[in-house]
Amino acid sequence: MQVEKLAPHVGVEVTGIDLASIAGADLEALKDLVFGAGVAVLRDQTLTPEDHIALAERWGGIDINNYFPLQDEYPEIAIVGKRADQETNIGGGWHTDHSYDQVPAMGSILVARTLPPSGGDTMFIHMGEAYDSLDDETKAEIEDLAAFHTADHIYSPEGVYAQTDQGSELRGQALKTGATHPVVIRHPRTGRRLLYVNPAFTINIVGRTREESLPLLQKLYAAAMNPDLQGRVQWRDGTVAIWDNRTTWHFACNDYQGYAREMHRITLSGEALAA
Ligand code: SIN
Repeated sequence: MQVEKLAPHVGVEVTGIDLASIAGADLEALKDLVFGAGVAVLRDQTLTPEDHIALAERWGGIDINNYFPLQDEYPEIAIVGKRADQETNIGGGWHTDHSYDQVPAMGSILVARTLPPSGGDTMFIHMGEAYDSLDDETKAEIEDLAAFHTADHIYSPEGVYAQTDQGSELRGQALKTGATHPVVIRHPRTGRRLLYVNPAFTINIVGRTREESLPLLQKLYAAAMNPDLQGRVQWRDGTVAIWDNRTTWHFACNDYQGYAREMHRITLSGEALAA
C-alpha cells in the first residue's frame, strides 16, 4: 500500500489496494488512514454494487440513509445524483453526514458512476486541523459546550430541498430528527480532538437560542472554512473516496450545469460520540 497526501491538511491518496478484495491487516491499515487523515481516495477501482456492499460490511456495517433515493436492486446503496436537467445537487454546502443522529454514521464509501466532463469535485476539511487552528480563548470557551443538531429544516416538506428540483426525489420528509453532541469530540479511534458542529445540521448551542448561538457558531465555521485547510477530490472513472464523518466536513461542488453526475454512496455504521 502506498500513501501520498491529498492536500497538506486533509486526506490521502492510496495506491496498491484493490477495494474489491481488501481484508485483514490491509483493511485495518486503510481504516486507520481514513480515521486519521479524514478521507482516502483510491483510483482505478472496479467495484461492482455487490463488491461495494461487501466492502461496507467488512468495514463494520451499513447505516442506510433515510433520505436519498435507494438503488432498486441494492437498497444498501443510496444514489447521490443530479440529472442533466436538474439545477440543485445533493450536499452542496459544508456538512457532516448524519450529525442529526445520536449515533452518527461513521462515514461513507462513495463510488463515481457517472461524471460530468469537468467539475463536480468534492471538497473536504479536517476538523482536527480546524480545532487546532482556534485560539486558546475560543478553545476554552467551547470546551464543555454541547450543540443540538437536526435535519428537519433540510428534508421536511417545508425544508431546503423541497424548494428545489431535488425535492420530489427524496424520501423521509416526515421524519423527525434531533441529537445533542459535544462541540468538541474525541475521535473514538484516534483520540484526536475534533470540532463537531457544522453549518448544515447544527442549530444551537445547548442552553442558548439559535440567535444567541450564531455568533459563536459562525466564528467556528469561519475558522474551519479557511481555504488553507481544504482538500479537493477530483473524480475520474474508477475513483472511490472513503471518508470519516467525525474527522471531516465535505462539500459537493455544483459547477457542472447541463451534465449528469451520479455517485453511489454506502453510509457506514458509527458509534456514540463523547468529549
Ligand atoms: C455527499 O455525500 O454529501 C455528496 C458527496 C458528493 O456527491 O460528492
